[in-house]
Amino acid sequence: MTQILTEPVSRYTRVAAVFHWLVAALIVVNVGLGYTAELLPDTWVRPAIDLHKSIGLTAIGLVSMRILWRLAHPAPPLPESYGRVERAAAHTAHVVLYGLILALPVSGWLHDSAFKDAAAHPLRIFWLIPWFRVGALAHLDPTTKEAVHGQLFALHVWLAYALYGLVALHVLGALKHQFIDGEAELQRMRVGRRRAL
Ligand code: HEM
Repeated sequence: MTQILTEPVSRYTRVAAVFHWLVAALIVVNVGLGYTAELLPDTWVRPAIDLHKSIGLTAIGLVSMRILWRLAHPAPPLPESYGRVERAAAHTAHVVLYGLILALPVSGWLHDSAFKDAAAHPLRIFWLIPWFRVGALAHLDPTTKEAVHGQLFALHVWLAYALYGLVALHVLGALKHQFIDGEAELQRMRVGRRRAL
């Protein structure tokens, strides 16, 4: 039997959409944990930081897979109404966003690799999977390590600020296209099934 697909909007593949929303959710939860972990009651602080690290290390894996998927599956074409500048801006923002969502958790991992008490707090993803620290940082002499630990934390914080700025532009852009230009922008990244007639 022949099926005619009703596909008025060109959409990302379902896998790309699942990666998009899953990574976005992990980042939102981790931003929340990053700022609140230290404010929790004493017995919760360490588990909250361990959860933050577990989610971040998982994000590194998911973002890497997402980038590989994206390289193998071109994005659907942008709507005709996008001008040349808007196309270039959207493309640049997406490339930088991919860079930031990878660099942010990697910077956290590097920061943690230079943690002076690392031996007392081994990395275990979700308390199950043992994970390694970067040897070149873990084996620095104590004074250098402490300085590098601080610098990598500053990098982690600044990458987070850069991500907030770019995500704000990304969301505002999507909302403008959806509600001001009247395009089916949000449907492009919908996870649901493609309907058949
Ligand atoms: C989805 C990825 C990640 C996001 C969005 C994220 C975000 C953040 C944010 C917003 C903070 C608070 C910064 C501040 O106090 O100004 C933070 C702190 C921190 N992050 Fe991450 N991070 C991620 C991944 C990681 C990873 C993979 C690790 C280590 C394996 C890590 C280790 C840390 C540590 C140790 C802190 C300090 C926590 C504390 O002492 O309260 N992060 N992160």
